[in-house]
Amino acid sequence: MKDAPATLWWDTASSSIRYIDQTLLPGEFAIVECTTVDRLATAIRRLEIRGAPALGVAGAYGVALAAATCTKIDFGEFLAEVSAAANMLRSTRPTAINLAWGIDRVLGKISPVTDLRSARETAIREAQAIAREDTGCCHAIGRHGAALLPDTCTVLTHCNAGALACSSWGTALGVIRSAVQAGKDVKVISCETRPLLQGARLTAWELSEDGIDVTTITDSMAAHFMRAGAIDAVIVGADRITEDAVFNKIGTYMHAVCARHHGIPFYVAAPLSTFDRDKTERDVIIEERGREEVTTMGNRVFVPEKAHVRNPAFDATPMDLITAIVTEHGVVKPPLDIRSLLSRTSTI
Ligand code: MRU
Repeated sequence: MKDAPATLWWDTASSSIRYIDQTLLPGEFAIVECTTVDRLATAIRRLEIRGAPALGVAGAYGVALAAATCTKIDFGEFLAEVSAAANMLRSTRPTAINLAWGIDRVLGKISPVTDLRSARETAIREAQAIAREDTGCCHAIGRHGAALLPDTCTVLTHCNAGALACSSWGTALGVIRSAVQAGKDVKVISCETRPLLQGARLTAWELSEDGIDVTTITDSMAAHFMRAGAIDAVIVGADRITEDAVFNKIGTYMHAVCARHHGIPFYVAAPLSTFDRDKTERDVIIEERGREEVTTMGNRVFVPEKAHVRNPAFDATPMDLITAIVTEHGVVKPPLDIRSLLSRTSTI
């Protein structure tokens, strides 16, 4: 199976970020050249770039872009401007911890540097390392996770935790890709994922491009197929993992409850950069997005103007509904001790 093209990368010749505009898929495959931090912030808010690990890479490249485009000559002023740009980027999407993680990792590398040129070079190098490591993590997650799947199975997934949500390969879809690569017969049920249809538009596109058998259903059909015995496992990605909950695309919790009811294993695949050692469920901000995402499809409005609308982008699944979490260092089972997990694995 081919490794999909990178979702986003640094273009050295033009000192810009290039990325696949995910809002246009599957109809159009377009690469955007992003030359300013403001344009990057818009791309993140509009979900042109999305998915937790990809947001980590975008945040890292965003700091590199801020450093590359900053015109300050005094190093203190340079650092202050780059930090302000980083803070602005950090606030674009609050739930996926990888965004702040990627930003902070690059900021941490350039802060001790004392001249502009090395700071700029260091930022680009570190961001590229984050992108490379992410691909490595996805392949390791894939290998560990593939062992959990039966030789012949149908797996349900929600949203898009694929190559497009990462640097390449994917977390949940990385597990599926690795299992297929290892010779397993894996079929995928991809929930459409209202309101923005990442499952229908992106997961179904990625998998069918790879020749993996994928069937799209609406979100409300999942329980029906579980009850019919048509699903052997559920596997999803994550935007943040605290000791007590997994935050992922809205609808994930519903699948976890249904999976438990039907005795179906519920797996989460995520790199350690998605784990939050400092917070619990109630500390995490769930991003609430605009009403038009729910009320509108194309040019048609489906909800009366006077009706209220809610649009939380994520939900929290309590840890006791999760069978196992697949990380790049192996499979962990709840209850989690994130601090000791992170300190153990940092030495591996
Ligand atoms: O709003 P999105 O499309 O950024 O939400 C993405 C998800 O919820 C993914 O499942 C999650 O980021 C994991 S991606 C490997």
